[in-house]
Amino acid sequence: MDAARFVEEARRAIRDRVPPPERAVVAASGGIDSTVAALLACQALGDRAQVLFVDTGLLREGEVPRVGRLFQAVNIPYRVIPASETFFSALRGVVDPEEKRRVIGETFIRVFESEASRWSARYLVQGTIAPDWIESGGSLRDTIKTHHNVGGLPSRMSLELVEPIRDLYKDEVRQLARYLGLPESDRQPFPGPGLAVRVTGEVTPERVALARRAGAIVEEEVDQAVERGEIPRPWQYFAVLLPVRTVGVTGDVRTYGLAVSVRLVSSVDAMTATFSEVPPRLLRRISERITRDLSGHVTRVLYDVTDKPPATIEWE
Ligand code: XMP
Repeated sequence: MDAARFVEEARRAIRDRVPPPERAVVAASGGIDSTVAALLACQALGDRAQVLFVDTGLLREGEVPRVGRLFQAVNIPYRVIPASETFFSALRGVVDPEEKRRVIGETFIRVFESEASRWSARYLVQGTIAPDWIESGGSLRDTIKTHHNVGGLPSRMSLELVEPIRDLYKDEVRQLARYLGLPESDRQPFPGPGLAVRVTGEVTPERVALARRAGAIVEEEVDQAVERGEIPRPWQYFAVLLPVRTVGVTGDVRTYGLAVSVRLVSSVDAMTATFSEVPPRLLRRISERITRDLSGHVTRVLYDVTDKPPATIEWE
C-alpha cells in the first residue's frame, strides 16, 4: 500500500462526503483503527469534525488518561463522554454474546446521535476495517461475530456513516499509523465492545472490575516478559472472566470463587491465530498475582490452548 497516496485520497473522499458547512462527529476509542480514522477526519474537515471518546465503563485500567495523552500527542481535540451508567443499564440481564454486541452498538449510536444533534452534525466517522464487516457477514456466508460497529448498528439511525479505512486490514492500518506519526502504532487490538465480551455471562460493574484487574495483571506481566526478552510480543494478551464457580482453599478455609482464563495469541491479521507457547514460569506469575489480588473472588486461573480456528480470539 502507498500510504502517502492513500492518505491524500482518503482526505479528499471525506471532504467530498462531508461538504462545508456540514459537520461530523467522530467515534474514537483510542484504538489504532479509530485513531487513524479520526486523524484523517480532523485533517480533512478541521473544526467541522468533533472527536468523541465515550467512556463506556467497559474500558481497560488507565485507559481514559492514556487515550487523552495519545490524542494530545497527535493534536486531536476531543471530548470525553461519560456514559458508563447508560451502558451498564442497557446491558442489564443480557448474556448472549450477539445480543451484547447489538445492545452496545445501539447504545454507542444513541450516544453519538445525542451529541451530534447538540452540534448540528449529520455524519458519523468511524474506524471500521475489513475484518469487522467480513466477520459480521459482509461476504462470508454466516456471521462469525457481529462487530459492534457494523452488524450491531440499529436499523434506524439519524447519522450517515463515513468509514475512511473500511477496506484496509490491520497491518495496512498499522502502516498508515506509522506514516501519520501515531505513537503506539503496534499496540495490541482491543475490541470495541470492550470488557463486555471478556466477561462471559451478565455484564455488571463488579464483574467488569474483576476482568479489568485480571487483564491489567496479564498485560503487565507479559510486557515485562517481552522487555526481558523471554517471549516475543503476542498479538493479543488478555484475561476473560468465566461464569463457572470453582472450589479453592485459602489457609484452611474453603472458598467458592470464579475462574479466569488467560489468552495469549500470535496472529498477522486476526483472521487466524495460534495460542502462544509461553514459559510456565510466566503463567505461574500471572496465576499467583491474579489469585492474590482478587483473593476471595477468583480461585482458579486457566490457560487457553486453542487456535483460531476452531476458536475465535475473543471468547464471545
Ligand atoms: P475474533 O474474536 O473474532 O476477533 O477472533 C478478531 C479480532 O477482532 C477483535 N474484535 C472486535 N473488534 N469490535 C471490534 O472493534 C468487535 O465487536 C470485536 N470482536 C472482536 C478481536 O479483539 C480480535 O483482534
